[in-house]
Amino acid sequence: MEKRGGFATKIGILMATVGSAVGLGNIWRFPYETGRNGGAAFLLVYLLSIFIIGFPVVMAEFVIGRKAKANPVGAFKKLAPNTKWHWVGYMGVLAGLLILGYYSVVAGWTMEYIFKALSLELENKSAADYKSMFETFTSNPILPIIWTVLVMIISHLIVKKGIKGGIEKASKIMMPILFLLMLILAVHSILLPGSMKGIEFFFNPDFSKLTAESVLTALGHAFFSLSLGMGCLITYASYFKSDIDLPKTAAQVTIIDTLVSVTAGVIIFPAVFAFNMQPEAGPGLVYMVLPNVFQQMSGSFIWSTMFYILLFLAALTSLISLHEVVTAYIHERYSISRSNSSRIVTALVLFLGVFCSLSFGLMKNATLFSMNFFEWLEYLTASVLLPLGGMLISIFVAWYLDKKIVFDELSNDGKIKVKGFKIYIFILRYVAPLCIFAVFVTSLVK
Ligand code: PHE
Repeated sequence: MEKRGGFATKIGILMATVGSAVGLGNIWRFPYETGRNGGAAFLLVYLLSIFIIGFPVVMAEFVIGRKAKANPVGAFKKLAPNTKWHWVGYMGVLAGLLILGYYSVVAGWTMEYIFKALSLELENKSAADYKSMFETFTSNPILPIIWTVLVMIISHLIVKKGIKGGIEKASKIMMPILFLLMLILAVHSILLPGSMKGIEFFFNPDFSKLTAESVLTALGHAFFSLSLGMGCLITYASYFKSDIDLPKTAAQVTIIDTLVSVTAGVIIFPAVFAFNMQPEAGPGLVYMVLPNVFQQMSGSFIWSTMFYILLFLAALTSLISLHEVVTAYIHERYSISRSNSSRIVTALVLFLGVFCSLSFGLMKNATLFSMNFFEWLEYLTASVLLPLGGMLISIFVAWYLDKKIVFDELSNDGKIKVKGFKIYIFILRYVAPLCIFAVFVTSLVK
C-alpha cells in the first residue's frame, strides 16, 4: 500500500476545494436553472439554501473527513464501527460515479466548443444555425464520445499523480486563470449597452414564478454546486493538514463558490438581454444562445474562446474531485494502486458516458417517465442522492458523533476560537435535516 498522500499548502487546499465546488454547476447549470425558474426569486432561494443549509453541511463533511482520514466509506466505518452508517459512504461513491457519467460528457462538449470558437465556426450564423449546430454535434454518435474519452484521460493523468503532485498542482495553475477570465468577461458584459434588463431579471425577484419544484431545484443545486452530500468534501478534507482552520476554509469555499455563480449570471444575463434573447433555453443555454450573443459583439471570437476555456477549466477541476472520490475508495478498500484504481474509474465512467452521450441522439427516445438516461442521472444525483446524503451527514455529525470530537476538529483541539458552536449544532440537528426533508416530501408528492 502506498503512503496516504495529502495537500501541502493552505493555498493549495483552498484552490483544490474551490476548484471542486466551482464547476459546470456554476457556469452551465446555475444560469439555465435560474433562467428557467424565473430569475431573481430563484437566486434568493438558492442563496438561502447555500448559507443556512449548505455552509453548515460543508463543515460537517470537513469534520468527518479530517477526523477519519479516509475515503467516504472508510470514514464512516472508522467513526461509527459496527453500524450501518457506512452506507452513506456507499451512497456517496455511487453518486460520484453517476455524476461523472454525465459530467464527463458535458465537459467534453466544452472542448468541442473551444475548437469551434477558435476555428471561427461560431461566427456569422443565425439563431437557428446555432441551435442546429448544437443538436447536430450532441446527437452525433461518435464525436462527443471522443471528447468524453479525451477529457477523462486528462482527468486520469492528474488523479493518478496523487494529491500534492496531481490535484493540488493542477488546481493551483487552473483556478487563477479561471478567476481572471471570469472577471474580464463580467466587466465586458456589464459594459454592453442594454445590459440593465439582464441585471434586473437576475436581481429583481418575481415570487409568482416560484414553485415547490423550483425550491427543490434550488436546494439540490446548492448541494451540487458546493460538491456536497456525496463525500467529495469528506475525501478532500481527509488530505487536509491538522492546522487548517476548518470553519474558515468552509466559509471561504462557500463564499467564493457563490460569488462565482453570481458572476456567471452577471456574464450571461446582461449579454442575453442586451441582444434581445430569451434566458429559458435550458441545458443548451450556454451552447445555443451564448454563441449567438458573442457573435454580435466586436472581437466576438476572443470572447467566445475565453468563455469556453473558462467553462472547460471549471469542469476539469470538478471532474478530478469526483474522480478522486471513487478512486480513493477503490484504492483504499481493495488495496489496488492509485493508478489502477483511477483507471478502473475511468473505464466505468466511459461506460456510463457513452449512454449519456447517446441520450442526445440514438437513444433520445429511450425514456422512462419521459426522462432519458442523461436526465435520469442528473435527477437521481442532484435532486435525490445529494440532498439525501446531506441530510444524513448532518444527522450523523449532530446526533451520532460525540460533540467533543466535532468541537475538537472545528477548533483544532482548542487552538482556535470557535464562535456559535451551539447554534451550529442546532442547525445541523434540526434546521438542515427538516428543511431538506420538507422540500423533498413536497416535491415527491407533486
Ligand atoms: N460542484 C461541482 C459543480 O458545481 C460539481 C460537483 C458535484 C463536484 C459533486 C463534485 C461533487 O460543477
